[in-house]
Amino acid sequence: MKKTVVSSGHAGKLFEQIYDYILDRIRRGEWKPHDKLPSIRSLATEFNVHRLTVFKAYQLLKENRIVEVKDKSGYYVRPDHSLPVDSLHNPIISAYVHESHLSEIHQVQAEYVLSKSLLDPNLLPNLYFSEYVKQVFDLYPKMLGTYFTVQGDQELRDALCRYFTDCHRFHLSADELLITCGSQEAMDLVARALVKPRDAVMLERPTYSTAIDIFRRQGAAIVPVEIHPYGYDLEQVEKLMQAYKPRLFYLNPTFQSPTGYIVPAEQRKRLVELAERYQCLLLEDDPYRDIYFGKEPPLPLFAYDTAGWVIYLRSFSKYIAPGLGIAIVACRSSIMNYLIKAKLLSDSGTPLVNQKIFLHYFFSERLQQHMEKLRIALAVRKDIVEQELSATDWQWNSPAGGFNLWVKLPETVEIERLLSTCIKQSITFVPGAICDPLKEYKSWIRLSYSYLNEQLLREGIQRLVKLADGSNAYRHPMLND
Ligand SMILES: Cc1ncc(COP(=O)(O)O)c(C=O)c1O
Repeated sequence: MKKTVVSSGHAGKLFEQIYDYILDRIRRGEWKPHDKLPSIRSLATEFNVHRLTVFKAYQLLKENRIVEVKDKSGYYVRPDHSLPVDSLHNPIISAYVHESHLSEIHQVQAEYVLSKSLLDPNLLPNLYFSEYVKQVFDLYPKMLGTYFTVQGDQELRDALCRYFTDCHRFHLSADELLITCGSQEAMDLVARALVKPRDAVMLERPTYSTAIDIFRRQGAAIVPVEIHPYGYDLEQVEKLMQAYKPRLFYLNPTFQSPTGYIVPAEQRKRLVELAERYQCLLLEDDPYRDIYFGKEPPLPLFAYDTAGWVIYLRSFSKYIAPGLGIAIVACRSSIMNYLIKAKLLSDSGTPLVNQKIFLHYFFSERLQQHMEKLRIALAVRKDIVEQELSATDWQWNSPAGGFNLWVKLPETVEIERLLSTCIKQSITFVPGAICDPLKEYKSWIRLSYSYLNEQLLREGIQRLVKLADGSNAYRHPMLND
């Protein structure tokens, strides 16, 4: 059967996808130094592309000294190529670590953290929470000695089932919910359980950077879909579904990371219809839903799904109690069975203590009242960033919720250099290119306003602007002429 090849939607990118595919397999150690590589003809047939496209990819690999040609015999992996050593010596590790760009940035210790899309711990009712934990232990004195199920605590699933039915008009039973240690784990389970190497997977462009890493690591062929302030171009989505028959479309339609955009209700309904027609699962990631600054966002796509094409991920880590790490997956039982099996391979369930504490805390009146204050506090922080940026010529769309501002800087600023200068000055942000499956968006950055207090946030933005503006060192030499 012919394979589909990923198209970026831009002419001239097909060969780069083939290039990446070959590079990935060499990096993972699946194709070793001196190995003969597949012929141009076989790759062209496999990916259903012209032979010239594969030829171009091989030419680039040759120029980059990764492969070599032996007369009349074909292409071989060069023994002296310069791909990272751990990939060569430890293919198992490389297959898993691969490219974890976001976590690398998060490991940087900085005073002005504008990179973390996480809540400032001071915005949570911590004192109340610690008293509360004691009460939960009193309620379940044998909690630490109790076994738990892989799918999650029944009491919590029953309560969440009622909550989703009441608040989001979901039609589901507690058996259709799985409790995980965060939506990142859930995404990983879905990728491992449902995506095979070279399955086409649609990703928004830009998107949550870790999703790119997870699906790439799974060997998926990425099909990028532009997201705009008005949502998607649904004609384009349909064409891509038709052409590439993707296994899955990962989307974050509510206060999207990194852009903050919201996909409107009409598009949600239509997307579910398209998913059903083209048999493409929709993996809806919804961690920011409750952080809205005006009116509530439209219902999740899952609410429109009757035929089981939507898998809904809802993390509560962002604002309930990040330390508990609780998220849920809602999906129909045919898919649930695969996810449970995948989870069983990595652990035997999300810790019960976390689930019980979460259950009582989430549904407590105190937390529900706190949400209103939290939204106001975050809206104030967003305003601070926007005030500070208003004196610049940077561009952004003001988000109506979420934790992030997606900002375009003048093209004269080199973002990578700016980031390394900022890190030296104890400032971090997320460079836009890592949110892009095509690694473009080179003038964009994601600024999170959720993690710093108001004063540090203001100072951090002022310093960032100064560093970006202040020095001609950031100008590309070609642009200085
Ligand atoms: C869109 C999106 N999905 C998932 C996650 C990860 O969520 P969790 O902490 O539940 O793993 C994040 C965290 O930044 C995110 O922005």
